[in-house]
Amino acid sequence: MTTLKFLGHACFQLSNSRTTLLFDPFLTDNPHQLAQADQIDCDYILVSHGHSDHLGDAVAIAKRTGATIISTAEVAHHCSEQGCQAHAMHLGGKHAFDFGYVRVTLAFHGSGIPGGHACGFVVHFHGTTVYFAGDTGLFGDMALLGRLEKIDYALLPIGDNYTMGPGDAVEAAALLRPRVVIPMHYNTWPLIAQDPHAFKQEVEKRLDIPVLIQAPGETLTLDS
Ligand code: NI
Ligand code: MN
Repeated sequence: MTTLKFLGHACFQLSNSRTTLLFDPFLTDNPHQLAQADQIDCDYILVSHGHSDHLGDAVAIAKRTGATIISTAEVAHHCSEQGCQAHAMHLGGKHAFDFGYVRVTLAFHGSGIPGGHACGFVVHFHGTTVYFAGDTGLFGDMALLGRLEKIDYALLPIGDNYTMGPGDAVEAAALLRPRVVIPMHYNTWPLIAQDPHAFKQEVEKRLDIPVLIQAPGETLTLDS
């Protein structure tokens, strides 16, 4: 059984009986306070960029658990300099891990680290394909990504201001054509307050793609 737990903002825990991945572990300073960085367990931590609401507690968790950080070369280097195990990748690259392969995708956003670039990830996790868009604006090559990868679950930011807003995220879903859309990166602070139900209605009406809204702390069971 594969499960996806939403830990608020853009932090998700994807796991089955064999492997646990953590995406963008922003826990300690997250207003939702859903998990303690010193209690969470994982095998890999995928970090989309160096902004504090994404890199978050990655270094502390990796050092305590021995988990491998997967990120762009600049972020991976930053983490290994602090004593973490890290696997450096970069935009457009794929690599096979024991759970399946990871493709590092474009993300149009600041890197949060000198010389770097923000990214997203397509993760093939024991037969389920998850696209974690990271922080990004809408871009037309999402259509290409939708052609290259048969995405089961697309995790898309809808908060606006720093990333795509709900209207652009509907367009993103139209380009990606995933089986299911899950919104993220909204309602953490007043500046990115959004109504996920209005977004859900629009995607389902216009595109006939189901949207699953996860309350912070909620766990979904994914089908492959
Ligand atoms: Ni950011
Ligand atoms: Mn962010």
